[in-house]
Amino acid sequence: MTIATSRGAWLLWVIVPYLAIATFIVGHVWRYRTDQFHWTTRSTQLLESRMLKLASPLFHFGLLAVIAGHIIGILIPQSWTESLGITETEYRIFSAVMGTLAGTAVLLGLVLLITRRASDRRVRATTKTMDVTVLGLLAFMVATGMWNTTVHNLIEGGYNYRLSISPWFRGIFLLHPNPSLVTASAVPLSYRLHAIAGWLVIMIWPFTRLVHAWSVPIAYLRRAPIVYRSRAPRHARAGAVGLAGARRASAAAAPQAEAGIAVQGQGGVHVN
Ligand code: HEM
Repeated sequence: MTIATSRGAWLLWVIVPYLAIATFIVGHVWRYRTDQFHWTTRSTQLLESRMLKLASPLFHFGLLAVIAGHIIGILIPQSWTESLGITETEYRIFSAVMGTLAGTAVLLGLVLLITRRASDRRVRATTKTMDVTVLGLLAFMVATGMWNTTVHNLIEGGYNYRLSISPWFRGIFLLHPNPSLVTASAVPLSYRLHAIAGWLVIMIWPFTRLVHAWSVPIAYLRRAPIVYRSRAPRHARAGAVGLAGARRASAAAAPQAEAGIAVQGQGGVHVN
């Protein structure tokens, strides 16, 4: 490796990841302290809900499965799965099949989300440049990720990223980054593009609507039901009910009274 490429390799595979992690942490703290009112999905459900009903669960539930796959494939070393008796071939087939299923759900969801945003006039009007950037980056992530999983692993018979991408990724968090694991010529370009774009997503995350991921209302599932009751004492409420009842009765009587007047009027006319 020449000095120039080695500098480039350090920039891409060491500096960019640490910069992304630092921006992610500092950016979230800054955003939380300065911009809590805009910490939201900026949901467009009220503008269009028919396509969203299908697109959103496909994308989000698919993504949860993809994240689980990334944890197993990247954070768990190959030696650990082997010590459980899982061979590399067994792991690869499992990861390629599950990854293809999960990735297809994300891909379909994302295509629908982008189509919805482009085709619905009102949703399009709320779209900001940052939304387009996020959707573009996610589309790139999903395209390169699916290429890795389906073309390299399912069709071509397998590239073992658990000996290159995975230890490089873990090395960043263990504070001994090794860029040569990624720059080795055997690593397919699509894996490198996917990884670098992943850091870009992490870098811009705090400045986008992706922050809503940390505000999933999980507490709703566990919280006690809210009981609505009046703070007024019982006798006051009884009085209020009596008053309301009287109002209701007089409201109900009003049309009859009016009718009565009309009848009387007609009667009057009739008498005349
Ligand atoms: C730096 C961060 C990331 C790294 C190192 C990484 C790495 C990988 C690797 C190695 C694969 C291929 C698995 C295989 O060949 O079977 C993959 C697949 C995939 N990745 Fe990522 N990824 C990152 C971030 C992301 C992000 C942010 C997304 C968001 C959409 C994403 C979406 C996908 C998808 C959809 C697939 C295909 C389905 C699957 O196998 O799970 N990745 N990624």
